[in-house]
Amino acid sequence: MEKSQAYIRIQELKEVINEANRRYYVDNSPTLSDFEFDMLLKELESLEKEYPEYQTSDSPTQKVGSDIVSNKESTKEFEQHPHRYPMLSLGNTYDISEVQAFADRAVKTIGNNFTYSCELKFDGTAICLTYRNGKLFRALTRGDGTVGDDVTANVRNISNIPQELHIPSDFVPSLLQSSPWPDEFEIRGEIYMPWAAFDRLNEERIQEEEPPFANPRNAASGSLKLQDSKTVAKRGLECTLYHILGEDLPFQTHDEALKAAESWGLPVSDKRKVCRNIDEIESFITRWDTERKTLPFATDGIVIKINELALQEELGYTAKFPRWAVAYKFKAEQALTRLLSIDYQVGRTGAVTPVANLEPVQLSGTIVKRASLHNADQMQILDIHIGDYVYVEKGGEIIPKITGVELSQRGDDISLPHFPDVCPDCGTTLVKDEKEAKSFCPNQTGCPTQIKGRLVHFLSRKAMNVIAGEATIDQLYNKALVWNPADFYELQMEHLLTLEGWKERSAERFLNSLKESVKVPFERVLYALGIRYVGETTAKTIARHFGSIDAIAAADMESLLAADDIGQVIAESIYAYFREDANIDTIDRLKAAGLKFKIEAGQQKLSSSLEGKTIVISGNFSVSRDDMKALIAAHGGKNSGSVSGKTSYLLAGEKPGPEKIKKAESLGVKIIDEGTFRDLINNIEQ
Ligand code: IVH
Repeated sequence: MEKSQAYIRIQELKEVINEANRRYYVDNSPTLSDFEFDMLLKELESLEKEYPEYQTSDSPTQKVGSDIVSNKESTKEFEQHPHRYPMLSLGNTYDISEVQAFADRAVKTIGNNFTYSCELKFDGTAICLTYRNGKLFRALTRGDGTVGDDVTANVRNISNIPQELHIPSDFVPSLLQSSPWPDEFEIRGEIYMPWAAFDRLNEERIQEEEPPFANPRNAASGSLKLQDSKTVAKRGLECTLYHILGEDLPFQTHDEALKAAESWGLPVSDKRKVCRNIDEIESFITRWDTERKTLPFATDGIVIKINELALQEELGYTAKFPRWAVAYKFKAEQALTRLLSIDYQVGRTGAVTPVANLEPVQLSGTIVKRASLHNADQMQILDIHIGDYVYVEKGGEIIPKITGVELSQRGDDISLPHFPDVCPDCGTTLVKDEKEAKSFCPNQTGCPTQIKGRLVHFLSRKAMNVIAGEATIDQLYNKALVWNPADFYELQMEHLLTLEGWKERSAERFLNSLKESVKVPFERVLYALGIRYVGETTAKTIARHFGSIDAIAAADMESLLAADDIGQVIAESIYAYFREDANIDTIDRLKAAGLKFKIEAGQQKLSSSLEGKTIVISGNFSVSRDDMKALIAAHGGKNSGSVSGKTSYLLAGEKPGPEKIKKAESLGVKIIDEGTFRDLINNIEQ
C-alpha cells in the first residue's frame, strides 16, 4: 500500500473503530461483531507498525474504549473517581499459535519455571470493587481505564456481591493478623446477566415496545448504569471476580489469591485450572468451547494468565494490556440451514439490503428465520444460491448474518439470485456507492419507503419522541397528509378524523404529543433530521460544538472537521445536506413550527465544566457571538460584558477589542482562544 493510501486507511479505521467503541461501551448497542471489530483493530495496528509516523496517542490501538456516561437517556450521570491502578484490557487472539507466541515471549523474560491460570472469559462488563476493613467501599466501572463511573449504589443491589466479607472457619486471629483479608484491597471482575434473566428482560422490553438488548453483555452494562438502584435489583445481574490488587498482598500466585477471595465469600468461578504447558491450555480451550454452550451465562473465550505474581510483575504492562495475560476468543456460534428466498429492503437512506429468508433454525438460544446478506458484493463473494445450505452467525446486530455456504450440501434445486437493478419500491434505477459497496435508490424525494422511513425516524423515541407507530405514518402518508417532517406540525384535528379507526381521543393524544415535541432539545432535533451518518452521539457532538443549526449550515469542511470525532465521511455528508434547497426549506418550516434549532442558555445543561467561571468574550468566532454565549451557559458558566477582577477568562476570538485585552493583562485575567475554550468544555485537562 502506498504511503498516502495508508494514511487515508488509518484515518478511516480510526473513525470506524472509535464509532464502534462508542456504540459498544456507551450506547450498549454494538454495530460490529467482536470478530469484525478485532480484525479492524489488527489492521490498524499493523498499519501503524509499518508507518509509525502516523501513530498518535489518541489512536484506539493505544487506549481502552470508554464507558463513561454523559447525559444519556434513562441513565444518570455518575460521579467519577480515578482508578488506583489503571484498568486495562486484554490482548486477544482467535488462534492457538498466538497463545504459543504469548508463552514464548513470556519465557524470554521470565524463563520457563512458571504455570498458567486458565479461566473462562465472562462476557459482561468490567467492575472494580474496593473493600475496606472487610466492607464494600466502592464500585467503579472501567470508564476510560483511568477514571471510572461510581456505580456503588447499583452494585449493592447485585445479590452475589457481599457487602461484608465472611471470616473463614479455619481463620485464627493473631497479633500480626487480626483479620483474614488486607485492610484495603481491590478486586476486579465482570458483572454479567445470565441467559434466563436476559430472555426475561427482553420479553418484557418487547411487550413494552422497547428495543430488546442485542446480547447479555449490553443488557448487563445498560442495567449497571440505570438511574434507579431498585430496578437494578430486579434485573438479575451477577458478578464473578478474577483479579485482586493491593499493596503488599500476601499471595504467591494468582490461584492462591482467588482461593483466598473465595474463602472470604467473594464470587469466584470454579471453572478454572492451573495448566503447566500449551497442551494443557489447548485441551482446556477445546473442552470449554463445547461445554460453554451448556453454561447458564455467556462466555466469549478463555483467559490465560501467568500464575506467579512476582513473574506477572516482572512482565509488566503495555499502555493497553498486561504482558502476563492473553485472551483466546471463541469464534461465534454458527448454525447451518437452508436459504429459502431473498428480500431486497429499502431503508430510510435509500440503501438496498438483501435479507435472507431461512428455514428456521436454533442459534444461541433463539430461533433464527432471517439473516442479513449485506450487499451484492457479499452475495457474490459467498457465491450464494437460493436453495443452498448456509452458515448463520450472530454478530453485534440483532439480525444474524450469513457467513458461508456449505458447498458439499449443494443440490440440483438451486437458482442464482439476482440483485435488482431498480428500486423494489419505486422502480428507480439503483446507483452503486463503490466506497460502501452498497446499492442506493437515488429517488430520495419520491421513493415512498425512504420518505416513510425518514418520517418514522423523525418521530422516534430518541428523536422527537412522538407517540406514533409505522402504521400511523403509513395512514398519514397514504392520505397524502404528510410527506415532509414539517407537515406533521400543520396537521389539524379534522385531518386526523378522516383516518380509519381514529377517534377524537386518539387524535388529541397525537396532536398533544406533537405539541410537546417542540420542547425537545436541539441535539435531538438535529438527530431527528436524519442526516446520513449523524447518529445520536454525533448529533450531540455537533450541537455542542456549533451551538445552532445556522452555524452548522454555514460551516465549511474545515470547520466541520475541527469538531471532535468528525471525520471526512461525516463532514462531507453534513456539508452536502445543507447544500440541498429542500433540506433548508424543511428546516425553515420546522423553525416556524417552533422546534429548537439552537442550544438554549439555561434550558439545556450540557456539562458543568465551566461551573463558577465568569467569561468575557471579545472578537469573532467560528460561530456567532450569541451561540458562543449560549455554549458558555450550557456548560454552567456565566457570561459578562466587561473584564473585572472577578473575570475567570477573557475568551478572545479573531480581532478582539484591544481595550479588553489590555484590561485583562493588567488584572492578570487569563486570555484563552476558541480552541482552548472548546477543550475546556470538552473536559480536556489544561
Ligand atoms: S483478567 C488487566 N480474567 O475481558 C486485565 N478478564 O476483553 C485483567 N474478562 O478487560 C483482566 N473474563 O473485563 C480477566 N477471567 C477473566 C475475564 C476477564 C472476562 C474481561 C475483562 C477484560 C476483558 C478483555
